[in-house]
Amino acid sequence: MLPPAGSTNAAEVDALFNFINVISLILLVGISIAIVYFAIKYRRRSDNDVTPVITHNNTLEITWSVIPLILVMIVFGWGYKGYLNMATAPEDAYEVQVTARSWLWEFHYPNGNVSIDELHVPVNRPIKLVMNSSDVIHSFYVPDYRVKKDVLPNRYTSVWFEVPETGEATIFCTEYCGMDHSNMMGKVVVHSQEEFDTWLAESAQVDESIPPADRGRELVQRFGCTGCHSIEDNSVIQGPSFVGIMGRDRELEDGTTVTTDENYIRESILDPQSQIAAGFPGGLMQSYAGILNDQQINDIIEYLKTLD
Ligand code: CUA
Repeated sequence: MLPPAGSTNAAEVDALFNFINVISLILLVGISIAIVYFAIKYRRRSDNDVTPVITHNNTLEITWSVIPLILVMIVFGWGYKGYLNMATAPEDAYEVQVTARSWLWEFHYPNGNVSIDELHVPVNRPIKLVMNSSDVIHSFYVPDYRVKKDVLPNRYTSVWFEVPETGEATIFCTEYCGMDHSNMMGKVVVHSQEEFDTWLAESAQVDESIPPADRGRELVQRFGCTGCHSIEDNSVIQGPSFVGIMGRDRELEDGTTVTTDENYIRESILDPQSQIAAGFPGGLMQSYAGILNDQQINDIIEYLKTLD
């Protein structure tokens, strides 16, 4: 019934969940049977049947108050202990900064590396996420890890988890955040420590053996640009198509016309609202300043030049 228990905390969460479920089931069945049994036993048999006057029954009243109280206190104590444990990350946790934006997840690692929609972590090590939203409220949810926390603008929230085995798990956004909320998904990739170190080092450097345009194509996919900009044809997904975007005259929303050169592309990536193409609503794209570095922007421009 439950997703696989993928984190060290999952077993405890499931145990409490199952306890509440089983207790509820026992009470549901017991009360249902009692209702039917008493309804039949004390049914009206003749017109002279009169219900006796009962003012109270101490034994019964104490019993039906104390038993639920004990059950509720068990659930409270157990839940509180689990909550404290999940709210307090171990001191030696590996910290990753998370920025949620409509509609993607950005992960910033201690060495300055950034990944989009893919959180890479080492196995068997507590991972602490410090999360913040750059627009509306989102919510970080990994069912396999039993981890869920709202991600808010102007305030940090955090979660932590530890994964005992390498593998992958799906990240969902579980707070309705607009048009593409249901597509705001990602994955956690759990590596061995060695593999993780290699990933961190490699993804931070530029692979000179790959032509810039090919690196650019990979970036455009990885950073989710193609979710809004077509690279296939002239169709409009959300924003203008990338096909034939370079070296044209483009009319902007304010009536001016610009040439779509390198500077235009760079400006559009770093400050998208400064030059909205005529006929488009604007406001959908956010700045990639601090996410894409100069090298990456150059690579993307080289790639766009190949899309004629
Ligand atoms: Cu972000 Cu729903």
